[in-house]
Amino acid sequence: MKPTKEKKWVKIKFIVPSGTSDYLSYILDELGALGSIIDNNNSNKLTILTTFFNFEQHPFLLIEKIKKKIKKAFPFFPKLKGYRLSWEIIEKEDWAYSWKKYFTYHKITKKIAIAPPWEKKRNDVPIFIYIEPAMAFGTGLHPTTKLCLMMLEKYITQKEIKDLLDVGTGSGILSIASIFLGAKNVLGIDIDKDAIKSARKNRRLNRLKKKPIFSSKPLSKIRKKFDIVVANLTRDIIVENHHYLNERIVTHGKLIISGILIEQKKEIKALMQKNGLKLIDEKENEDWLCLVMEK
Ligand SMILES: C[S@@+](CC[C@H](N)C(=O)[O-])C[C@H]1O[C@@H](n2cnc3c(N)ncnc32)[C@H](O)[C@@H]1O
Repeated sequence: MKPTKEKKWVKIKFIVPSGTSDYLSYILDELGALGSIIDNNNSNKLTILTTFFNFEQHPFLLIEKIKKKIKKAFPFFPKLKGYRLSWEIIEKEDWAYSWKKYFTYHKITKKIAIAPPWEKKRNDVPIFIYIEPAMAFGTGLHPTTKLCLMMLEKYITQKEIKDLLDVGTGSGILSIASIFLGAKNVLGIDIDKDAIKSARKNRRLNRLKKKPIFSSKPLSKIRKKFDIVVANLTRDIIVENHHYLNERIVTHGKLIISGILIEQKKEIKALMQKNGLKLIDEKENEDWLCLVMEK
């Protein structure tokens, strides 16, 4: 089905047994979800997960694909069998409203807080980042984004970082945070043109000493080398691009990767070690993992 002129999204609401929402969110990411909001705030051991997809195909087809993929996960996550879903098509105006309802001020790390632009600036942390909750992934609330922010906070402040590459920048959150943390030159790339637009918009929302550059140039076409490469992607994209990621790091430089599930650690670690990288740090949040490798 051709996309209609007026942009539309498919909003899907899942009710799932607690403890399964992170894996469901992973499945949805793999299928191209723009972002998921997990609400654990209820007493009956159920979690509500709301997710959004671009309206690119008939929702019936999309729902069928999702159901098939969830079914494949039943042997590993039998509790998922208890899921229920409902969906609706939403238009442009409803989109911002849907996000606004959920997105408020959040302290993410010791030093970093994020908030939508309509919130007043607070001074309880040194770094306050404004992010417009738009179509691109990266409001900072997802565990993998949080993990990357924690690692950036740790490694940018340890050593002077001249050049940093953010692969799959989404909303630009990691690039913007890197500048605030002290990185000198930051390049954020994404294959999604809407992500680049939203990253540029977020760049304007924040008072930055130096602006990160956002580009849709493919990773394979980047020639420069960087002190830190941060890549919050998915297992499949990391596996597909591991050579390119490795090639972009200077000797003794670091690769911060996330978007990996804890059970995928062995595979990713082995793949990176084959490239001559060594694992120097790691952190988990819910089912997710962030690895720091050194060249
Ligand atoms: C999980 S989101 C991460 C967004 C943000 N960096 C964060 O940490 O919240 C992954 C992003 O990677 C982008 N992406 C996927 N494959 C890519 C590739 N091969 N090269 C660059 N970006 C890619 C997607 O469009 C998406 O915006």
